[in-house]
Amino acid sequence: MGPLVVANWKMNGSEQLLRAVVQEVGGLAEATVVLAVPAPYLSLTKGFGNTQVEWAGQNVHWLKSGAYTGEVSASMLVEMGVGWCLVGHSERRQHFSETDELVLAKTKACLEVGIRPIVCVGESLQERQAGKALEVVSRQLTEVLNGVPRALAPLIVVAYEPVWAIGTGEEASPEIAQEVHEALKRAARCEIEALELRVLYGGSVNADNANALMRMPDVDGVLVGGASLEALGFRQLCAQVAGSV
Ligand code: 13P
Repeated sequence: MGPLVVANWKMNGSEQLLRAVVQEVGGLAEATVVLAVPAPYLSLTKGFGNTQVEWAGQNVHWLKSGAYTGEVSASMLVEMGVGWCLVGHSERRQHFSETDELVLAKTKACLEVGIRPIVCVGESLQERQAGKALEVVSRQLTEVLNGVPRALAPLIVVAYEPVWAIGTGEEASPEIAQEVHEALKRAARCEIEALELRVLYGGSVNADNANALMRMPDVDGVLVGGASLEALGFRQLCAQVAGSV
């Protein structure tokens, strides 16, 4: 499988930007481009016809339906043609109190309907400074892998997003990313033998640093926040990633 570029718009963007981005990256064949846009925009996706772009939710509820005002279920995402969903982004862990337990429940809800979960893991600055980065991310990952049906685990993609690199303009060095990705893949194989986990890097990725990150053997793609909010620049970033393998 080729490299993966996932754009996480967070609570940003507009319909106009969506159209511009799809126009720029919809024809890229060398990389898989997935757009994780705010939920209302996912209802527009069918109108884009035969674009190569794929779609992701930014969040999902863990139950199938019910009295949970404001929430979106995994089967609703499927109905909108969505094939992926971010789970456990650090902003959700931080601002919406999502625990490892909840991240597992959401991952399972996705897998049950065939949505590929992009499970986000990452250490805080304090955890890194305390030398605990590998321990923290490995725990976040194994909590998930331990709890999902083994046969469905290959659908999971992991995004390593060090909290200190998100939105700060201070990306992890390619060497740091490589070290953590390698550790995550090793931890995954300890849980599920022969699992070939794909690991994306996220945190201040842009068109200037994407290539160096992608050259690392265990960086399988990128998860991009701010730099996905400008259509031309994002196309350049995708082209960098596509050309890097
Ligand atoms: P930035 O690329 O803006 O640092 O955001 C990273 C991120 O959180 C993607 O999920």
